[in-house]
Amino acid sequence: MNRRSRRGRSRSLGDLVPVLAAVVTAAVVVIVGLFVLGSGSDAGARAMLEAEFDGAYPAFPTPSGNVVEVDVTAAPATIEVVEGLDTQVWAFNGVVPGEVHRVTLGDTFRMNFRNELPVETTVHWHGVRVPNAMDGVPGITQPAIQPGESFTYEFTPPDAGTFFYHSHVNSTEQVERGLYGTLVVEDTESVGYSQDVVMVIDDWSLTPTGAIDTDFNNPTDVTHNGRWGSVITVNGEDEAQLTARPGERVRLRFVNASVARPYALRFVNPPAQVIAIDGMYVREPRSADATLISPGARADVDITMPDTPGTFEIVEDFSTRAVRLVTVVVDGGPVDTPDFAAPRNGEIPDWAEAVDVDVDIEYKLALTGSRWTINGDSFPTFEAEQIEPDVFTKVRFTNNSIRLHPMHLHGQFFQVLARNGEPVNDGAFRDSVLLFKDDVVDVGLVALDAGMWAMHCHILEHAAGGMMTFLEVTARDPVEAPS
Ligand code: C2O
Ligand code: CU
Repeated sequence: MNRRSRRGRSRSLGDLVPVLAAVVTAAVVVIVGLFVLGSGSDAGARAMLEAEFDGAYPAFPTPSGNVVEVDVTAAPATIEVVEGLDTQVWAFNGVVPGEVHRVTLGDTFRMNFRNELPVETTVHWHGVRVPNAMDGVPGITQPAIQPGESFTYEFTPPDAGTFFYHSHVNSTEQVERGLYGTLVVEDTESVGYSQDVVMVIDDWSLTPTGAIDTDFNNPTDVTHNGRWGSVITVNGEDEAQLTARPGERVRLRFVNASVARPYALRFVNPPAQVIAIDGMYVREPRSADATLISPGARADVDITMPDTPGTFEIVEDFSTRAVRLVTVVVDGGPVDTPDFAAPRNGEIPDWAEAVDVDVDIEYKLALTGSRWTINGDSFPTFEAEQIEPDVFTKVRFTNNSIRLHPMHLHGQFFQVLARNGEPVNDGAFRDSVLLFKDDVVDVGLVALDAGMWAMHCHILEHAAGGMMTFLEVTARDPVEAPS
């Protein structure tokens, strides 16, 4: 791995601090300074953005002391994707998608993981703010787990929501073969939905006999929009059904497990609302119609069943042809619709001042020959940008290509600030953002957790083609003990 490292931006205000600290009147000077800088200057705007971020993530949960412990083995297995045909997969505990592991906020999750595959692997907890050592990135946060070896993943998730776990080794092949699943972190108080259902979407490239097409990292897929399958399944079923009673209010947790294909959900009737994106509650629930879920992304949808029996479909139409994902069968005696305000995170800042702030890091995305590059480097060559914790950081993604790029950052959430120069009032924390042809997208974040965090395109063929780098969040200065 060829790694060059360089310092990210250094803040002028930060540079002043040691000097000012020597002066007895430091506090006064800083306050006056902020006041002066506050009118339109970068430092003043940044101070405001950081202040607005305070409390934007739910408070770190009080540990319950409860440990949810699961034993999971990755191994070859046989499943039925298309009726009547056997498909050999690689699976967590024999099933694709892998089991939904549910914990409650405050619980510690422990996975005793064993690798019975013929190849090395790891597990990455996509969207979970885990300690860096639990992030599952081979060669960076842990050595890959060899065949026959075990590894224990253990962390206390700080956020309630819908998360995605998957192999992070040779993932164009391993995720495509079935190594993924869902981690749900429940709120401490149950919100009151009639049903809470995980819906994992995947697409499969199968041969006529039902085998997984082994043409992974096909150069055409790598240089175009990745590998798109012809069979779409929800929870492993190509004819997925959900049964609910009239009037039920259901929380649907959509997870896109596809290596490359985005989905645009359509809820024509009855209307539905998105309450969470990438696991995190949004500031205000919004219409779920045309909800874009790029690879690795999640959307939680609040939907109330019609009050009379019948069926309706949830379709996706990212490409021109609409595809049915789920048939909802509304059947049985009606129930009273649970009446409660949809959960939300009213603390998400609007960060309107962010448009005036300079870009700290720009990632230019391009296809160079047959390799994808970020700022001219193609992984395994990369230049790790460094940022400080607790500081507002503005990142620009510039797509100098005609392809899609769902850019994903490990270990942090960001908010979209602007798209192609137009301010965006996102009202959501995300761990990925989808770029279309020639898009320039600005995002803002305040990193909290130190570590080397992967930043890559979640069209996994693009990542395999070099579109991956790392963002290093430096550790906080140790607090000096008072003498
Ligand atoms: Cu789901 Cu590094 O990714
Ligand atoms: Cu990409």
